[in-house]
Amino acid sequence: MPVWLMRQAGRILPGYRKLREHVKDFKELVKTPALACEATLEPVSLLGVDAAIIFSDILVVPEAMGLDYEMLESKGPLFEKTIQTQKDIDALRIGATENWNYVTDAIKLTKSELNGKVPLIGFAGSPWTIFAYMTEGKGSKTFSVAKRMLYSQPEMAHALLDKITKTTIQYLKDQVNAGAQIVQIFDSWGGILSPESYEEFSLPYIAKICDELNSFVPVIAFPKGAFFSAKKIAKINCSVVGLDWTVDAADARSLLPGKSLQGNLDPCVLYADPSVIRMKTQKMLEQFGAKGYIANLGHGVYPDIPMDNVKHFIDCVKQYSGK
Ligand code: CP3
Repeated sequence: MPVWLMRQAGRILPGYRKLREHVKDFKELVKTPALACEATLEPVSLLGVDAAIIFSDILVVPEAMGLDYEMLESKGPLFEKTIQTQKDIDALRIGATENWNYVTDAIKLTKSELNGKVPLIGFAGSPWTIFAYMTEGKGSKTFSVAKRMLYSQPEMAHALLDKITKTTIQYLKDQVNAGAQIVQIFDSWGGILSPESYEEFSLPYIAKICDELNSFVPVIAFPKGAFFSAKKIAKINCSVVGLDWTVDAADARSLLPGKSLQGNLDPCVLYADPSVIRMKTQKMLEQFGAKGYIANLGHGVYPDIPMDNVKHFIDCVKQYSGK
């Protein structure tokens, strides 16, 4: 069974940390195709993962729409302006190809460097997750500013989600045309919504993206924390559903018939002893079974997890599946 990790290119890797020392900031890395390519390739050679995911960020999309951000060291993203009114929404553009040439260039370069060794995954945030950053302006525990708009001005919220969705569809199509062979939609903040809100403000937009993409490449939908809507998620046009660690494998198999599944070890297991990592990994693999399954963590790997433990996780999957 194949294995890769969300956030596999990042601070867990020595080469990545070195790359970061040589650039002004995170965004310079993202916007320099040769460096983004180098960051993408490192986990393939060093960890032995079965897929590469293009080194970039979901916040390429708001920037392409005209909303600039900074990535603050060890704090996360900060937007100087946020979206609060219909006028703000009207001022945003629907992003177009010329706004993300640096990503498609990085994909083309990486694809040629990979030379077919492993598939290359492209990605985008879900419209709701991008909406959350655009309205909030930064990370948040509650995303109450974003959620306030859903409840107090739902029509305006839909107008913004629609604009983000149109941009995201073009963005992902451009990634596929540049060489991405699979795409993942990260709905990192789906789980802070109620089922009713999730099914009104997040899932329909993810479904729309899947309808536009899944006939070209397999789409992985990752509705983090939103398994409460599993029955509805089962109906969208994606090939794979990514699961976080709160989801039981047997429940996922029964509620998501016909979908391949991806996940879902708690990244924090990788802080434990190698014997614990092996035991928990084997248990997960047994529970999911080999068919229609991609081994992964339940969310991105944390930057302070020792690289050897990450490597051990990958080795355990490979030994289990006899590779
Ligand atoms: O998976 C990969 O290896 C590909 C690269 C990738 C990054 N971000 C690189 C990155 C991917 C797929 C993302 C997606 C992303 N970005 C998401 C969705 C996935 C998730 O984690 O839920 C989100 C919410 C973001 C937004 C974002 N980017 C935040 C909140 C932060 C800061 C906090 C953090 O986790 O570090 C980033 C920065 C970021 N994106 C880093 C990396 C390697 C860290 C920058 C650094 O430390 O050099």
